[in-house]
Amino acid sequence: MTKSLTKWFRAFHRWIAVPTALLIPAAVLIKLLGSPELVAAWERLDKVPSLLMLVMAISGTYLFLLPYIAKAQRKKRAPAALQTDKGR
Ligand code: HEM
Repeated sequence: MTKSLTKWFRAFHRWIAVPTALLIPAAVLIKLLGSPELVAAWERLDKVPSLLMLVMAISGTYLFLLPYIAKAQRKKRAPAALQTDKGR
């Protein structure tokens, strides 16, 4: 995977973290302390924090796997000469 795509994923994960971190506690507070009207109004938006969490989990899993993907690619790309020199 290209370096710029990796950078983009990291920035994406970082910026989606902001609304996620704000909306999840807000959703809990609304459910625990909100008036019945507010809770009813929130009902329609209730899926948003779950969707954000899903996006964070997918992009986070990719970020987690990145070092392993890079390692596998390095191994594949290593010239044959380097691989035979290993024992020296
Ligand atoms: C299942 C969910 C998640 C997984 C698997 C995950 C995984 C990761 C991984 C692997 C990294 C890169 C760490 C590194 O190598 O430096 C990362 C960075 C980060 N994560 Fe998550 N994450 C998840 C959810 C979240 C959530 C919910 C938040 C905040 C609301 C969050 C905020 C961040 C931030 C701010 C960074 C640093 C990004 C940067 O500046 O490079 N993550 N996460």
